[in-house]
Amino acid sequence: MAPLTWTQAMSVGVATLDVDHKCLIRIINLLEEADTEEAAAAIETVLETLVLYSRFHFQREEKVMEACDFPGLFFHRTEHEGFARFVRSLRERFQGNATPQMARELHRYLSQWLWHHVLIQDMAYKPFAAERDGIDEIALGAAPALESLERPALAACH
Ligand SMILES: [Fe+2]
Ligand SMILES: [Fe+2]
Repeated sequence: MAPLTWTQAMSVGVATLDVDHKCLIRIINLLEEADTEEAAAAIETVLETLVLYSRFHFQREEKVMEACDFPGLFFHRTEHEGFARFVRSLRERFQGNATPQMARELHRYLSQWLWHHVLIQDMAYKPFAAERDGIDEIALGAAPALESLERPALAACH
């Protein structure tokens, strides 16, 4: 599968959340670049980084949805929690035990999940965020600075 790329169609209209989504794409695409010997290490790095970065992004996104009175927040949050649980359980299953085929499969799965989540679930709050003054400042102040995350997340995003 070709690497997932961010396009304008994925913009939720809040600059910091677009940056987060680009970063999530970059993390997931580390799986695509891994060659045979690196598969297990790539899966471990990607899952570890996704656990950290998705927690960071979901927290920020949920604060934005709260601030603009998005009516779908309850279900959106449930979807975020489900994904976070899923990634944590994958991490436990894959530890030290992965093949290139698994890396490709995981890349496809995570790419599709993110693509659908952004285009359908995240896109639903876009009109509400557009109506809220100062939403970019709210998004910026809603989560700890990226620097406070542990190293794997930073390595993939800079
Ligand atoms: Fe979301
Ligand atoms: Fe999102």
